[in-house]
Amino acid sequence: MIDPIPSPSVPGPIADPEMPAVHEQLIVFARELGELYRLERARSAELERVLASLQETYLATMKSLAQVIEAKDRTTRGHLERTQTYGVALARRIAPSLVDASPTLGYGFFLHDIGKVGIPEHILCKEGPLDDGEWEVMRRHPVIGAQIIAPISFLSGAVELIRHHHERFDGSGYPDALRGEEIPLTARVFAVVDAFDAMTSERPYRGPMQLERALDEIRRGAGAQFDPEVVRVFAQMIEEESWDTDEVPEELPPARTAIAPQRAG
Ligand SMILES: [Fe+2]
Repeated sequence: MIDPIPSPSVPGPIADPEMPAVHEQLIVFARELGELYRLERARSAELERVLASLQETYLATMKSLAQVIEAKDRTTRGHLERTQTYGVALARRIAPSLVDASPTLGYGFFLHDIGKVGIPEHILCKEGPLDDGEWEVMRRHPVIGAQIIAPISFLSGAVELIRHHHERFDGSGYPDALRGEEIPLTARVFAVVDAFDAMTSERPYRGPMQLERALDEIRRGAGAQFDPEVVRVFAQMIEEESWDTDEVPEELPPARTAIAPQRAG
């Protein structure tokens, strides 16, 4: 039998006479830190509220400006809202991640013509067709619009769409004559929605085009003015959703069949 090894004697804790005071001090520090943290959070919540309010004010100003341009430009009332609502809905159908990644994308649809603020009134409001020189000036509005919006960081998701909203799929658009998939997807979506709304709206010089005829026109433009895949998804969307040419929608109306689905063949 082996004798157990005797264990060394373990010294007990040495009582430090200053310990209670240090402990007390730590509790005071912890309380003070907690209070500082609470104050910082309140301050940061207040800053967030101020920032949100600034963003709202800025957006309201931009939207008013866009509506003033809309009135001068004699665009049909509600065009901007419809373009935004249906544009975002179409973008979501094509690539949900596009909309999720850029929550302010919808403002790009609404503010697409904001650059017209930089176009002289005698050109913007001219009765009758523009001459070549006037067209050259008018064609600057996408670039001016992108320059206006670019410094506003919370609208960064809208800049690309504003700059490229007059590009055409075959490369004959402006300002950069981009072709096919070089054109940002949001701008390809915009082109279809904008043209469809323009055709189906009442204009001073003509009545609204029937939805089915307008859709045929859009299909005819696939590959030239429009991205064929965007046209395909768009046709599917308006066969499933309503497209109200009179109302100013705040959100996409509930699904109902607005036009008869096209027959195969
Ligand atoms: Fe435009």
